[in-house]
Amino acid sequence: MKRVLVTGGAGYIGSHTLVELSERGYELFVLDDFSNSTPRSLDAVAKITGKKIPYKVCDIRSEADVAAVFRDFRPDAVIHFAGVKSVGESCREPVKYYEINVQGTLNLLSVMQAAGCRNLIFSSSATVYGAPSEIPLTENAALRPVNPYGHSKRMCEQVLLDLAAADTRWRVGLLRYFNPAGAHASGLIGEDPNGEPHNLVPYISQVASGLRTELKILGDDYETPDGTGVRDYIHVVDLAIGHVVALQHILEGTEAAPLVVNLGSGAGCSVMDVLTTFRRVSGQPIPARVVERRPGDLPSYYSSSALAAEKLNWRTERGIEEICRDAWNWQSKNPQGYGGGQ
Ligand code: NAD
Ligand code: WQD
Repeated sequence: MKRVLVTGGAGYIGSHTLVELSERGYELFVLDDFSNSTPRSLDAVAKITGKKIPYKVCDIRSEADVAAVFRDFRPDAVIHFAGVKSVGESCREPVKYYEINVQGTLNLLSVMQAAGCRNLIFSSSATVYGAPSEIPLTENAALRPVNPYGHSKRMCEQVLLDLAAADTRWRVGLLRYFNPAGAHASGLIGEDPNGEPHNLVPYISQVASGLRTELKILGDDYETPDGTGVRDYIHVVDLAIGHVVALQHILEGTEAAPLVVNLGSGAGCSVMDVLTTFRRVSGQPIPARVVERRPGDLPSYYSSSALAAEKLNWRTERGIEEICRDAWNWQSKNPQGYGGGQ
């Protein structure tokens, strides 16, 4: 069976993808510096799948350390999650974002070239689009990132497209995620943000469990049906399965051209939709208060999922109800996340 190196595999999306890959028989290895995760997530993956996944502590900013992982594991393909992902932090620390997301990816590509491994799935983001000219967003939309995080992802995409054009032996998949949320139904793995969550669903989860006192609704005067922000929430398990299908496409498919697809539900949910659903599935009151808009937030942002359906025969199967149910299941079972001394 194919050997797949998963960088950032101990993280939120990586750990959920490990479960799906492992259950399909891939031989796996994780590279992670655990700067935003813990090996406990890999222990939890092993509990779910019954298979331990070897890993090495490695910072992708060190090309030599990445090369050592390749010498040990000799992957047939790489799924590259390792990176930093906060828009706000990227505006405060742009160099960190270019070092990790761009230089880290360049290091990985240099090592892959030297090792003759030319199959790569890259974690991109809808943030590469910036302010949309029209909704839903298709893959042909203009790429106009507006923050260092989005620029870093766009730069990595360009490097990969240029590489694949220069050497047609490369098979690459650029997956542009919208708003991943939720958790594996077992409640053994989930989103475990460091400190105060920036994102809506983990924040609501922590209010529901009493860790936080109230949800601040960041503006209710947008031009949307109920005035609150609309986003494309995608269940993290659907997203993980999307990675398996994209990997199969580049390893077994006949199409040599780079795969560039949005991974989203294709539908928009407002903040109020999410809050109302979460209250219902959790049975918790979840106090909330409207405050001023967050700078940079856009009114409405969701994907067209038509191309992923056409190219990969992949669609989301879980909606906002399952997202809230599974997020609450994870939060209520793990109020301190992985740090809860499992
Ligand atoms: P995460 O922080 O949970 O996972 C990232 C993993 O990478 C962590 O385990 C972290 O320890 C590791 N890492 C960070 N810097 C590293 C370095 N220098 N060397 C080695 N490992 C390093 O984040 P996630 O939500 O799982 O996101 C995974 C990928 O998906 C990221 O590239 C992110 O930009 C992208 N993405 C995430 C979202 C989202 O909303 N979660 C949306 C779009 C794209
Ligand atoms: C969703 C909605 C907020 C928190 C971000 C990144 C993006 C990607 C996904 C990496 C918005 C509202 C939020 C809160 C609120 N990450 N909100 N109260 O901003 O769409 O996307 O995460 O690639 O790059 O930008 O997600 O969850 O922060 O916000 O009312 O406490 O919830 O205004 O409408 P966002 P989010």
